[in-house]
Amino acid sequence: MGRPVHVVTGATSGMGLFLASALAEGGALVVAGARRPEAADALRARVPLGRLAVLPLDLLDPASVAAFAGAVRTLPGAASGIDALVCNAGLQVPGAPVLTPDGMDETFAANVFGHVLLVGLLMPALAPGAAVVTLGSGTHDPRNRLARLFGFRGGAFASVEALATGSGMAKGSDRYAAAKLCCILYAHAMARRHEGECLRFHAFDPGLMPGTGLARERPAPVRFAWHYILPAMRALVPGVSSPEKSARALAGHLLSGWGGRPSGAYVEFTGRPAPAAALATDDARADAMMAGLGRLAAARGWSLATNGAATPAG
Ligand SMILES: NC(=O)c1ccc[n+]([C@@H]2O[C@H](COP(=O)([O-])OP(=O)(O)OC[C@H]3O[C@@H](n4cnc5c(N)ncnc54)[C@H](OP(=O)(O)O)[C@@H]3O)[C@@H](O)[C@H]2O)c1
Repeated sequence: MGRPVHVVTGATSGMGLFLASALAEGGALVVAGARRPEAADALRARVPLGRLAVLPLDLLDPASVAAFAGAVRTLPGAASGIDALVCNAGLQVPGAPVLTPDGMDETFAANVFGHVLLVGLLMPALAPGAAVVTLGSGTHDPRNRLARLFGFRGGAFASVEALATGSGMAKGSDRYAAAKLCCILYAHAMARRHEGECLRFHAFDPGLMPGTGLARERPAPVRFAWHYILPAMRALVPGVSSPEKSARALAGHLLSGWGGRPSGAYVEFTGRPAPAAALATDDARADAMMAGLGRLAAARGWSLATNGAATPAG
């Protein structure tokens, strides 16, 4: 039997960097997507030669997502299937929405749509028993006190189309929280659609991980607190983690099963079930979101089947 193959997006920074090295240490071949090849230097320094393949991927660009999926599917090391696909890349854009050339809000495109297309295109290449993981966040939950402290009001959206363009969502924190709600809903919806099959879908909450690149577009005082003050609070405040710790927790799940948790479970970095807002496990909301994602895909030339598989439309 060959090495397990784990595809990880956003492995050039933050938790993804530690996740890639933990998975490679555990014996996996890590296939990483990077939008800037030079940004993968830190990754190459951490992961032993022969356990890493870095391929170009910009989640804001559906053509790049399709090219990445095609390249992964033809990698010699991945011939026997992909054992895990971790949709870890993420982005926060403070202030007004910034649109991609095809008119999608960048926060939604990077956190949600690019990954939905990627999962859909890689679905035929997933090995039996494979796990697909999306990254949730306490910011999706309006009851989360830590998130509220940072100005997050919880995830809500009128329609997928409105969220996809950032329409009526002037605050970047609202778009991010809603995008993270979609990531959790997606794992929930996909688990239901694949019930009785051996594919698993999970959402993972890494906790608050100060010090990562996620705050790179925030004002200087926020970045200072993010990098120098908040990390000191890790031992004191529940819900605060580090990228190393959360990556080890997620790698543990990926390498040794999910501790008996059913497909669809939303798990946090402590290994406990992650607190989820009622909306995040609402079947009707999940179905409406999947239908909306299908319409967005169709408008870009892709057809999304009920099971989430993506093929060129027409
Ligand atoms: N930090 C937290 O407190 C926290 C809390 C809850 C959830 N999360 C989630 O955890 C995940 C990892 O975040 P992090 O904190 O480790 O952030 P990070 O250090 O900023 O890492 C994000 C990664 O995503 C990549 N990325 C961003 N936009 C991309 C695009 N268009 N195409 C391809 N890759 C792209 C980045 O690549 P570049 O290096 O090229 O920018 C980077 O590798 C995210 O999904 C985030 O939402 C984080």
